[in-house]
Amino acid sequence: LRDVQRLELPPSADMHVHLRQDQVMELVVPQILNGGVDTVFVMPNLQPPITSIAKALDYQSCLRSIEPRVHYLMSLYLDPSITPEVIAEAAAAGITGVKMYPQGVTTNSESGVPADFLKAYSPVFAAMEQHDIVLNLHGEWPGRPPSDDISLEEAFLPELMKLHEKFPRLRCVLEHCSTAAALDAVRACGPSVVGTITAHHLYLTGDDSHTDPLAFCKPIPKKPSDRDALIKAVCSGDPKFFFGSDSAPHPLAAKIETQSDQAVPAGVFTQPFASQLVILALEEAIGRGFLEEDEVTQDRLEQFLSRSGRRFYKLPDPATEGPPKIVLERTGETIPTSIKSADGTLEIGLSRANAPVFSLS
Ligand code: NCD
Ligand code: DOR
Ligand code: ZN
Ligand code: ZN
Repeated sequence: LRDVQRLELPPSADMHVHLRQDQVMELVVPQILNGGVDTVFVMPNLQPPITSIAKALDYQSCLRSIEPRVHYLMSLYLDPSITPEVIAEAAAAGITGVKMYPQGVTTNSESGVPADFLKAYSPVFAAMEQHDIVLNLHGEWPGRPPSDDISLEEAFLPELMKLHEKFPRLRCVLEHCSTAAALDAVRACGPSVVGTITAHHLYLTGDDSHTDPLAFCKPIPKKPSDRDALIKAVCSGDPKFFFGSDSAPHPLAAKIETQSDQAVPAGVFTQPFASQLVILALEEAIGRGFLEEDEVTQDRLEQFLSRSGRRFYKLPDPATEGPPKIVLERTGETIPTSIKSADGTLEIGLSRANAPVFSLS
């Protein structure tokens, strides 16, 4: 990979994005293609959250009017208004998934589910299983973990196992896996359970995320050994793991001018360089001797970035459908510090400013 000057890949499918609304949306949506991505799974944690089919479809037309070349998979936000009847209608309306946020764990999760969600939402999960609607999990335990050594993600894993045991055919995505334990839990489940992996969890650890507001996100990146387990999963060719950037834009002012009594909003913005950052992280892993050069094959890169996600979501394979390839070349490009709206009133800081990346032509 390090000597490769040019890469041709099928367009990436980024199965976890935050595209926001209003001015942030106007700025971020045109960046999707720049990251080598033509298909996105759109998260519903707007303000207010997307809890109706009409709102999800409105949001989709809004996104399409900004960038019609991207394919948008839509989701609903799990709350008490999502009933088995809504699930049946959602399936008929072409909604792809329902995202579950435990209460209070991240941005706009105030109306998320309580700790006893499995009981409270069983009829909804049963309807989802029946209508083949995907359950997207923000897998962090809502509350204090049982001990300081256990992350909120690890504390959530027994719930994933219980959920899978009760609804074995319910297709679940454990979003933004951040621990080796989460990968093992996904592997231990049947083929209906998969996991997404972000770009930034392949190069950040907890220290970075706690010291740099632009690297602060949920789940908090963990230890180097967790990061390395994620890198191995990306290169494994295992169809259970595929790309979901969790690109989560926040205005730069909110990230860095936050008063000390206010929390920095969680989220790493990677959309304009989504695919490039995955490749950079793999190159860096080779550079520090963790990965062998031949562990990063064209085929495995394609599996992770493009094919496995499409297969899970029952979209056509890019080889058979034949959308144009993306071409990445080394031209000496580096990541800028931010992107700005035309009128200069909105600025969003990018992860890994100044890092050398492949250019998309
Ligand atoms: C805000 C927005 O409207 O862009 N959030 C959102 O939609 N979830 C911005 C933010 O809170 O990051
Ligand atoms: O860091 C994060 N930011 N993690 C999430 O799960 C949500 C996201 C956001 O919406 O900002
Ligand atoms: Zn999440
Ligand atoms: Zn997210």
